[in-house]
Amino acid sequence: MTKIHVAGYQVNLFDISFFWKYLEQLDYSTLFILVDENTEAHCLPVLEKCNQQKLNYELIQIASGEVHKNLTTCKIIWDALIECNADRQSILVNLGGGVIGDMGGFCASTYMRGMRFIQIPTTLLSQVDASVGGKLGIDHQSLKNIIGLFQNPEAVFADPIFFKTLPGKQLKSGFAEVLKHALIKDKNHWQELCKISKIENLKSWDWILPKSIQIKKAVVENDPLESGHRKVLNFGHSIGHGIESFYLNATMPYLHGEAIALGMICESYLSFKKNNLTKDSLSQISKQFLREFDLNHINESDFDKIIAFVQKDKKNKSGALLLSLLSEIGNCQVNIECQADEIKESFRYFNTLIS
Ligand SMILES: NC(=O)c1ccc[n+]([C@@H]2O[C@H](COP(=O)([O-])OP(=O)(O)OC[C@H]3O[C@@H](n4cnc5c(N)ncnc54)[C@H](O)[C@@H]3O)[C@@H](O)[C@H]2O)c1
Ligand SMILES: [Zn+2]
Repeated sequence: MTKIHVAGYQVNLFDISFFWKYLEQLDYSTLFILVDENTEAHCLPVLEKCNQQKLNYELIQIASGEVHKNLTTCKIIWDALIECNADRQSILVNLGGGVIGDMGGFCASTYMRGMRFIQIPTTLLSQVDASVGGKLGIDHQSLKNIIGLFQNPEAVFADPIFFKTLPGKQLKSGFAEVLKHALIKDKNHWQELCKISKIENLKSWDWILPKSIQIKKAVVENDPLESGHRKVLNFGHSIGHGIESFYLNATMPYLHGEAIALGMICESYLSFKKNNLTKDSLSQISKQFLREFDLNHINESDFDKIIAFVQKDKKNKSGALLLSLLSEIGNCQVNIECQADEIKESFRYFNTLIS
């Protein structure tokens, strides 16, 4: 097992059975496990299999998917906690992807002014990204994560054993964050990741998960409340979130990782235009993302609507669009001001790659 200490808690990697041993040492009243229909079918049995201690728990089920990451579902969770007399000595275990983790953590942190919660991320995205940094929240009025707070879990237990049942598209979505971590901090790691021919066939996660988590941890610990350098993690996300929000109600909405993959291509173009990223690096990055992800042409008539979502992004101060851009692969600068027209230009660049 690998243990990574993040400010205030521990990420336990590669041995899910340790979760139950850890629980045995904790003092709590009632244990709750939050699942959606997929993690109930695929992940709960994996967790149960190593429950040799036969510890009891109450199960709370919600519907899967980003469309349910909202107040209506929070009400279902809070109602279930109340019905089972949860108190501040109770613990909520969030077994699932980033949606379950963000929303379960949000509900726990606001229930009776805060009960403890444990994250068991079951997607690649939630293991390398959502498991570190303490960000919790839900979507509202088509705005991603607009309601939420920072609060650390008691602990995180992450194991790639859960990836066996994860749809390939979801695995790829998480891989976008793995690639992002390398792009902003580690050129050698980026080069190694580019050698992977098919992420679904990857044999060992030993060299990927700890590395990716360590990169995020290093950034977050330097700037826990996102007042400065932590914004490097937003690389690809300003435009990516705009894309994600705009297509949220489309027939085939983009997954988070897919949207930020598109965002990273556009923001790499802006990095090339405004922050000295070389043309070679821009081509290499674009090629890598287009090889991995199924991305669609953006209609010129939608540019303004997408930019309106980008402008609503909470990271921008007083209307100016402040982006995190690469100066080279492995190095990223924050707060680079971009104009709407430049973003449109990046969409046009992206479209030339698609046709
Ligand atoms: N808190 C943070 O710092 C942070 C960081 C990045 C992303 N996020 C959030 O995470 C969310 C995206 O997370 P996600 O990509 O994990 O999506 P998700 O939680 O929607 O999970 C993806 C799908 O996979 C299913 N699933 C999960 N684990 C499975 C498994 N092992 N086997 C089979 N099916 C499984 C889920 O039921 C769901 O249908 C977004 O809401 C995003 O805002 C949060
Ligand atoms: Zn992300």
